[in-house]
Amino acid sequence: MTGLRADEQSAIAQVESYGGQVLGIAKDVEGVRVLIPPKTFEGRVLSDADLAVLKEIPHIVELDLKNAGIGDEGASHLSALSDLERLHLEKTKITDTGLGHLKGLSKLVYLNIYGTEVSDAGLESLKGLTNLKNLYVWQTKVTEDAAKALQAAMESKGNDALEINLGWEKELLSKARLAALKAQREALESGETEETVEVAVVDDPDFKTHILPIFQESCVSCHGEDKQKGKLRLDTYEWTMKGTPDGPVVAAGDLIGSALFQLITLPADDDDIMPPKDGPLSENKIALIRNWISKGAKAEAEVKPAETKVAAAGGDGGVFAEYILPVLKDRCVDCHGEEKQKGKLRLDSLAATLKGAGDEAIVVKGQPDKSSLYTRIVLPADHDDRMPPKGDLLSKAQTDLIKLWILSGAE
Ligand code: HEC
Ligand code: HEC
Repeated sequence: MTGLRADEQSAIAQVESYGGQVLGIAKDVEGVRVLIPPKTFEGRVLSDADLAVLKEIPHIVELDLKNAGIGDEGASHLSALSDLERLHLEKTKITDTGLGHLKGLSKLVYLNIYGTEVSDAGLESLKGLTNLKNLYVWQTKVTEDAAKALQAAMESKGNDALEINLGWEKELLSKARLAALKAQREALESGETEETVEVAVVDDPDFKTHILPIFQESCVSCHGEDKQKGKLRLDTYEWTMKGTPDGPVVAAGDLIGSALFQLITLPADDDDIMPPKDGPLSENKIALIRNWISKGAKAEAEVKPAETKVAAAGGDGGVFAEYILPVLKDRCVDCHGEEKQKGKLRLDSLAATLKGAGDEAIVVKGQPDKSSLYTRIVLPADHDDRMPPKGDLLSKAQTDLIKLWILSGAE
């Protein structure tokens, strides 16, 4: 960075000294992104006071404090960052009081407070932030009613673009986006677009069967092997999930956080809509892509229990011994076995697994989503409750096996 005053340079050096990063946005764009780590190089947990230096750094447009141990005091140092457009506070100790310090950040477009103690009262402080478009309140105390009220308050001030993520498959899309979707439907019904064969909308699409054909028809000419507009390829599952050098464009379970969904559902006359010509996609195609993302952006269809080896097996060792126990032995039994019974749970036999943790069942036959044995292995890597708590997550094949085993009766 050039043209900085000495005090500005020393503030940046201080942030860098505790492991933070100060990065430019893009060539010819003024402003910086600041990333603050939860801990310093030496392992010291960052404190609220460490954030005081931020106000010496000019033009911070993005600030990432996720997982940092900072709380409301720390947030008080953010009130001076008037250029801030994107703020990550997820999994910090911020509460409603802390949000009060953000009242003046009128340029804020993106705010993530996922996994904090914030409640409905905290949203009051956001009502004046009329540029806000993306708000994440997943796993907070914020209720759907309060989120809707915030959206309505914004609309009354002319901001109809606020979208609020309340969790997996629970998102309040903005009025603007819903209007764009409606306009697309009407155009389709009145025959204004040249849609010939319409695809069927399925509830749980997968990339290979449903999404790739859409991309091949409408996107791959610019996002494929020959051309990679926006440095993005959409011709395989891996490329699609990789996104651009700036990050993913699909976030499983999160429509608001998926640039791809956002771009295909812009109003037809928006300069940024994808595809840029011959668009927008038909309503059914958009619905397929929406369902695909919100149901977890799967690569391939999951095998139905009846069709699987698991269900077919049975006999001698039984399904559990043959398919499930090896996974548990490899990844869980160190903490849930003969020597240690973390959470009062053993996972080294069928009987122990079905007995559960103390008096608490961890398997509900036929219902993986109610079985903590399953729900805790499919949490994101940085989630406090995920199992195993450390190391790699189980593979999709392994979690699918466990899911199928529970679905098919857990025997
Ligand atoms: C005629 C060429 C063309 C077609 C067809 C096209 N795109 Fe794009 N796409 C672009 C260009 C050019 C950019 C870069 C725009 C920019 O950076 O401002 C882009 C950027 C994107 C981005 C954003 C990448 C980023 O930087 O975050 C996404 C997502 C995207 N396209 C998705 C799609 C999808 C989905 C389709 C098909 C439904 C599609 N595009 C079809 C030309 C195209
Ligand atoms: C490094 C140790 C460790 C490993 C490895 C581990 N766990 Fe755990 N597990 C814990 C601890 C500690 C608890 C209790 C605290 C908690 O509930 O988070 C726990 C709790 C649980 C619970 C909740 C029990 C209840 O109270 O309802 C389940 C279910 C579970 N683990 C499943 C697994 C599975 C499945 C694996 C392997 C994929 C696994 N764990 C691997 C340490 C571990």
